[in-house]
Amino acid sequence: MKILDGRALANKILVSAKRKVARWKKDLSLAVVLVGKNPASVAYVRMKKKAAEKVGFKFRQVNLPTSISEKKLLAEVEKLNRDKKVAGFIVQLPLPKKIDEAKIIEAINPNKDVDGFHPLNFGRGFLNMPALLPATPAGILSLIDEYKIDLKGKNAVVIGRSNILGKPMAILLINRGATVTVCNRSTKSLAEHTKKADIIIAAAGVPNLVKASMVKKGVIIIDAGCAKLGDRLVGDVDFKQVKKKASLITPVPGGVGPMTVATLIENTVKAVAKNF
Ligand code: GUN
Repeated sequence: MKILDGRALANKILVSAKRKVARWKKDLSLAVVLVGKNPASVAYVRMKKKAAEKVGFKFRQVNLPTSISEKKLLAEVEKLNRDKKVAGFIVQLPLPKKIDEAKIIEAINPNKDVDGFHPLNFGRGFLNMPALLPATPAGILSLIDEYKIDLKGKNAVVIGRSNILGKPMAILLINRGATVTVCNRSTKSLAEHTKKADIIIAAAGVPNLVKASMVKKGVIIIDAGCAKLGDRLVGDVDFKQVKKKASLITPVPGGVGPMTVATLIENTVKAVAKNF
């Protein structure tokens, strides 16, 4: 078993981004809109701030109350769309229920959409055209590339079908020639699918969902789950047991998480250079 070291690759990506940002000699910002104080969101935003400042971007955090109206939030998005100092920005999800997330995301200028959530970027990514790709699946693909894993002809199983991860992940894998199965909470026998997988991308948000009995020997495991059990961070995979059967596996923490943040920064560099 070998560890897929997301932290090491993330650091490499940030070093390369820093070099590019230093060349521009412009005061450019990554901005994050944070509505409310969801503890997980606050923690994610803190990590994004740290990474942005590390590479030389300014970081602008727009804190808004959960009572904000959809109209006012759209006006904030429009302000960031027009601000020439803002290279790229994201609206941290989830948003309060009364706000239509899709409407907010669609209002973001696709050239500044460093989360890659806008339908235009999604569609372009799906068609294998240049696009800003969603940070987590794109980061996972970078990790797969770093370890020279050839996806052609591989059985890939994605657990989860979210717009942020499962869905775009499946498409990126299809574009790389994998045979892809996408499972969700209604899937009848998850184990039947995972046992056939050469590579599993776990993105269900269910701690320890994937057990050793559900995977074949030599499987490659990418664990994008991230939940708190007591004061411990755990993924969707029973790491202790599954690692005994896996050929390659991402740890939690130190696997997918740092790759998401680094890819967001990489996307911001691409947005500045209009290079996507
Ligand atoms: N919430 C959980 N992950 C993400 C992400 O990658 N981007 C945004 N905007 N919100 C999230």
